[in-house]
Amino acid sequence: MKKNNFNKFALITICLLVSACSAEPSQELSTGKEVYEARCSACHGSNLEGRVGPALDAKSPSASMPDSYWIQTITKGKGSMPAQRLTDKEVELVIEYIKSEY
Ligand code: HEC
Repeated sequence: MKKNNFNKFALITICLLVSACSAEPSQELSTGKEVYEARCSACHGSNLEGRVGPALDAKSPSASMPDSYWIQTITKGKGSMPAQRLTDKEVELVIEYIKSEY
């Protein structure tokens, strides 16, 4: 009896682990800061100062661009910037995060 319960528990645990790992193609990041650090900072710098990619801070030309320009750039890419595969929510969060740093 006891062993049987243990097996059930093990089975449930395995199912949870498997579903947690295979839920989304890339697991969704939950804050704009997380998205930025994971997907943008390598090219745009951890403080929006720019590296391979241009600065994205308040003084940069992108600061005065509408959200539609940002969404387009992030999801479709621009010049040497590759399109970023993010969910709509992640795109919204990361733009919000960048603008909150101005
Ligand atoms: C692999 C490096 C790389 C990554 C990752 C990257 N970018 Fe870029 N980004 C660039 C480069 C290079 C440019 C300049 C493209 C051009 O104009 O030719 C650019 C341009 C931009 C622009 C337009 C700037 C302007 O003044 O027109 C925005 C906005 C932008 N990136 C936002 C982001 C955001 C937000 C992320 C993360 C979701 C991101 N980028 C991820 C390299 C990158």
